Amino acid sequence: MTYKRKDGRKNDEFRPIKAKVGVVPNADGSAMYQSGETIAIAAVYGPRKMHPQHQQNPEKGTLRCTYNMLSFSVQDRIRPGLSRRSTEISKITEWALEPVLMLEKFPNMVVDVFINIIQADAGTRCAGINAASMALAHAGIPMKNLVSSISAGKMDKTIVLDLDKYEDSEFEEGEGSTDIPISMTPDGKITHFQLDGKINSTQLKEVIDMVQKACKEIYEIQKKALKDSIEDKEWQTNIVKH
Ligand code: CDP
Repeated sequence: MTYKRKDGRKNDEFRPIKAKVGVVPNADGSAMYQSGETIAIAAVYGPRKMHPQHQQNPEKGTLRCTYNMLSFSVQDRIRPGLSRRSTEISKITEWALEPVLMLEKFPNMVVDVFINIIQADAGTRCAGINAASMALAHAGIPMKNLVSSISAGKMDKTIVLDLDKYEDSEFEEGEGSTDIPISMTPDGKITHFQLDGKINSTQLKEVIDMVQKACKEIYEIQKKALKDSIEDKEWQTNIVKH
């Protein structure tokens, strides 16, 4: 069977993306990342002294991510508060972003990243990582690079990019669906990879190539959003000055 996407996308096409930096004025850095119906907002606070003190690391700073899916972000209301899923995604987000952060520059300090999913249609961990990466840069946290993230997967035997909720959780024909979220730097270094399902090595290579190409485009979108935020700020300063 050849899989045909319900929304008419090509197999290697991602959903429409919107990115904006500086969406939470009280935070040190913030960003919104939208992919189709999935919307993530990330707010960064810090670096600030780590409390309680026994959690301070004198060798390097700590990145602390908190992923949260709002109750009304999905069809069935989600019970507020921590869950096994949110704890796992928070940890994964930290691991995806840590390799690009120069944490050694702020020992004993912590950088908090709060990620809120306000609308979910699959791919929320990737949207959260993309938003968090922009928000960290916006907060001026020393970074070697940005991280871009998207998932690809297998619908029966067909490889597709950026699965939506139907593709991720409802499709059951043939071999069913396998979702593979991946995060990487613009030079192609993978910082996060998850695979829950079956896939052979040829198909996996196809997935990684597809994600690599998409991440390059996402990186350009993230970079543009950051640049636009600087231009916005200058414009606002001018208004205040005159
Ligand atoms: O969101 P992501 O693909 O990173 O993670 P997932 O655990 O594979 O969840 C896939 C999708 O299922 C989410 O994006 C939501 O749309 C939906 N979901 C839900 O409706 N209720 C939940 N408690 C968890 C997920």
